[in-house]
Amino acid sequence: MTTDNMKKAAAVAALEWVEKDSIIGVGTGSTANHFIDALADWHSPVKGAVASSDATAARLKAADIEIYDLNSSGTLSLYVDGADEANPALHLIKGGGGALTREKIVAAASINFICIADASKKVDVLGGFPLPVEVIPMARSYVAREIVKLGGDPELRDQFTTDNGNVILDIHNMKITDPIQLESQINQLAGVVTCGLFAGRPADVLLLGKEDGTVERITA
Ligand code: A5P
Repeated sequence: MTTDNMKKAAAVAALEWVEKDSIIGVGTGSTANHFIDALADWHSPVKGAVASSDATAARLKAADIEIYDLNSSGTLSLYVDGADEANPALHLIKGGGGALTREKIVAAASINFICIADASKKVDVLGGFPLPVEVIPMARSYVAREIVKLGGDPELRDQFTTDNGNVILDIHNMKITDPIQLESQINQLAGVVTCGLFAGRPADVLLLGKEDGTVERITA
């Protein structure tokens, strides 16, 4: 099975959590796109969705799914999104697509967070995938120096601006043994909007599409 088909299998499996006529949160990336496609084909339509990025909003609109503003939707029963890495506690690295801040907001505002991914995303220790950090542009150099003090190698993402008008520093070479502590340390740096560690608010369920076509369900 291809990686893309594994992502698709995980995305389709997430439909089990979707309630008819509900407003749900939808993430960003190729796996979340499979979920949007599956939602569009599904027999139990949702009332609408809160999008975690402009790209997701455009895809939801193209699928005729109504977009809601998080400020008017209230608490969401469900958020479905992909990840770049997941550890056994369902702490995640996200933000490979640069949408980490809005993803973190929608995840925080949701009761249930179902993470969908192909099997390659499951790791024992986070940090093989460079950790994205969204930074206010004027703080870029300061934050990079502070990240070096924390033991990482920050790299400015080339020619990239987030939906919020900010830049991304990708932190290489960090073995993240305490994701909850590191998330809060990085988030406290002046100029950081948020980092791509989802540890204080991890996923509730991880659906992993596997080589053999099955989907493994992992809960923390
Ligand atoms: C987007 O900013 C990310 O958080 C994505 O959820 C993550 O990069 C996973 O992307 P894929 O589903 O494309 O692998």
